[in-house]
Amino acid sequence: MLDAKTIALIKSTVPVLETRGREITTRFYQLMFRHHPELLHIFNHVNQKRGRQQTALAHAVYAAAVHIDRLEEILPVVRQIAHKHRSIGVLPEHYPIVGKHLLLAIKDVLGDAATDEMLKAWEKAYQVIADVFIRVEQEMYEQVKRQTGGWEGFRDFVVVRKVKESDVITSFYLQPTDGDPIALYLPGQYISVKLEIPGETYTHIRQYSLSDRPGKPYYRISVKREDAAANKPAGMVSSFLHASVREGDVLPISAPAGDFTLDLASDLPLVLISGGVGFTPLLSMLHTVVEEQPTRAVTYIHAAVNGRVHAMRNEVAELAQNHLQLKTYFCYSSPTEEDKAAANYDKAGHLDLAWLQSILSDKQAQFYICGPIPFMQTVYAALQRWGAADEQIRYEFFGPASTLKRHSA
Ligand SMILES: Cc1cc2nc3c(=O)[nH]c(=O)nc-3n(C[C@H](O)[C@H](O)[C@H](O)COP(=O)(O)OP(=O)(O)OC[C@H]3O[C@@H](n4cnc5c(N)ncnc54)[C@H](O)[C@@H]3O)c2cc1C
Ligand code: HEM
Repeated sequence: MLDAKTIALIKSTVPVLETRGREITTRFYQLMFRHHPELLHIFNHVNQKRGRQQTALAHAVYAAAVHIDRLEEILPVVRQIAHKHRSIGVLPEHYPIVGKHLLLAIKDVLGDAATDEMLKAWEKAYQVIADVFIRVEQEMYEQVKRQTGGWEGFRDFVVVRKVKESDVITSFYLQPTDGDPIALYLPGQYISVKLEIPGETYTHIRQYSLSDRPGKPYYRISVKREDAAANKPAGMVSSFLHASVREGDVLPISAPAGDFTLDLASDLPLVLISGGVGFTPLLSMLHTVVEEQPTRAVTYIHAAVNGRVHAMRNEVAELAQNHLQLKTYFCYSSPTEEDKAAANYDKAGHLDLAWLQSILSDKQAQFYICGPIPFMQTVYAALQRWGAADEQIRYEFFGPASTLKRHSA
């Protein structure tokens, strides 16, 4: 454990590191990738370019440092990050590399302001924080290895079916090439897919939520193609999966992970609210809840631009037909003429509090939200204004985890 003097020094230097946080982590990545280019196989290059990973790592290190004498308080956050690390394949031997380059970066950016005493204190603190991550991740590695059908690292799966679900979303049904069982998972969890794309020096790893219910002989992922637009290139992995991966092709994937999971111990009404491709973890929850809790009230709200990009509509409609506990609502921001003629949506435009209140009888419910960040901010702020209990609102980012709290004030 750290001594009181080191703890005081760490806490007193957090503000200066936070102010220079972006610079430090940017420098950290430059140095680390220069000395360890092999790590480019596991980091998401786009998150790097867009600064998303820099922010996530900086926040996590400082949050941990502030809590250095009571790290148990941030264990839920550690576990969430550890799920991602385990899914990607971060190992204990990677931690000293990160620690060394973090210290080098602090020294580089702060110059003389980084005293030997301060650097020593941060070295010790990093060790303490890293040990917590390593321990939590080790437990997760052991757990997936022990689990029936579980495995460590990446395992080859063959694409047994590829199904177009909408103009932009395609599902891939995956079964292991070894023919052995596959691990059960909690509805809401994701897998990582590792791709070798022709012409690319490094592998690319991305996460995809499992969109069917656990217990099937396959895993299903449903992927949105990220097309090129005005000032952004086409998404690397999603474009490749759509255009080049065919039935019979093999994809290495890691065992299911993630803590955005359905709470089946609760019997509060369940409200699943998704925007765009964010429906995937919620669809898995939906399939599960109607089977496991047939008397629980469930509302499924999905927002899409219009009917052309609305995926899996029939699958949800069929569930609603067979399970009276389920009510479904579709919200189209720009319905097409065909949508208007078919009157196949419940609300035009964006979802708002007045509309939510008109379809939901009670704010005493468990809410799960997933979708683009502005969509989640709108829904979260609406639920807060209504007075829904914070601990009953859960959400997932399809990128580095963050919080909606600071946006909703
Ligand atoms: C837990 C989790 C679950 C997920 N589940 C799903 C799911 O079920 N289905 C799904 O479709 N996705 C899901 N995702 C998202 C998925 O992991 C990928 O992020 C997504 O498919 C995009 O990856 P890509 O390689 O196609 O795009 P990338 O190449 O990673 O690009 C991402 C975006 O950034 C833009 N971009 C690229 N380069 C730049 C640049 N230099 N400047 C500005 N913009 C740039 C691209 O146009 C694209 O829109 C999930 C993510 C997480 C973390
Ligand atoms: C104590 C040290 C560390 C902290 C505090 C930390 C923190 C974080 C955080 C906050 C995220 C984002 C989580 C999310 O996406 O939801 C993340 C992701 C990630 N971390 Fe770490 N991490 C640490 C060590 C490491 C190590 C040692 C490696 C391996 C070299 C590593 C590799 C990654 C990768 C590859 C990602 C996903 C990045 C992406 O896809 O953009 N991390 N980490």
